[in-house]
Amino acid sequence: MNQPRRVENLQTDKGKVPVYATGVIEQPWGDYSATDHDVWRRLYQRQREVLVGRACDEFLQAQDTMGMTPDRIPKFSDMNRVLGDATGWRLIGVEGLLPELDFFDHLANRRFPVTWWIRRPDQIDYIEEPDLFHDLFGHVPLLMNPLFADYMAAYGRGGVKAHGIGADALQALTRLYWYTVEFGLIRQADGLRIYGSGIVSSKSESIHALESDAPNRIGFDLERIMRTRYRIDTFQKTYFVIDSFQQLMEATAPDFTPIYARLAEQGSVPAGEVLASDTVLHRGSGEGWATDGDV
Ligand code: PHE
Ligand code: FE
Repeated sequence: MNQPRRVENLQTDKGKVPVYATGVIEQPWGDYSATDHDVWRRLYQRQREVLVGRACDEFLQAQDTMGMTPDRIPKFSDMNRVLGDATGWRLIGVEGLLPELDFFDHLANRRFPVTWWIRRPDQIDYIEEPDLFHDLFGHVPLLMNPLFADYMAAYGRGGVKAHGIGADALQALTRLYWYTVEFGLIRQADGLRIYGSGIVSSKSESIHALESDAPNRIGFDLERIMRTRYRIDTFQKTYFVIDSFQQLMEATAPDFTPIYARLAEQGSVPAGEVLASDTVLHRGSGEGWATDGDV
């Protein structure tokens, strides 16, 4: 097999453009450098410190059950034994971002794509695209949870379907992924916690999401989320809060086809806006918000 490539976005005269790769590769575990393992260790230790009392119990518990440790970059094959037994999910190595339909198809079949390479030391605090740390540390633990595992597979099937319906349906579904899988908060008996991977893999956003006055924290509402724009270059202006993974499953179980049709009649909601119909847990002060840049 060829040596896997490290596929990152490209700097062009029009700014950064994403580059996609479809190949599924064997994790070249023996090729990680001491620096790679050290980046994993530093990030792992730092995040675990931040996340105790901030990430939901299921997330922290699953990392321990899977045997993720700071010592070295985990082997996908080791993770797969535990994960397969728990929920039937399997990690596959990829070189970078996948085209949407490939991504959906993997999820629908309980294959979770994990970028094989890890960020460089100068990218410790921020990297635009998913790397091994974001994918493995951030996404994989909740795949151990039976409800969340089912949600992700259902999302994949829903993605294949939305892809066949059109661009607006896809956009609505992408917003759902963004505000749940990537940036979701959950209400636990002892307080608000993080479950979104985009948050748990970032030290500053982990603190911001829960403790800053700036962002809105609003109760989960499927159609509201599907109308809401988001930020890809700064902290979110709004986080949506679920009460349980059961709630997430039940709210997303119905066929989305009529919902997509309904959404077509409505405009999108700016990332930081609060609506009269919202269940507001915290109304953001909006401090430090850039005035444009919603996606
Ligand atoms: N129920 C959705 C549909 O019919 C599929 C889906 C399930 C999407 C769970 C996201 C999460 O399209
Ligand atoms: Fe992600």
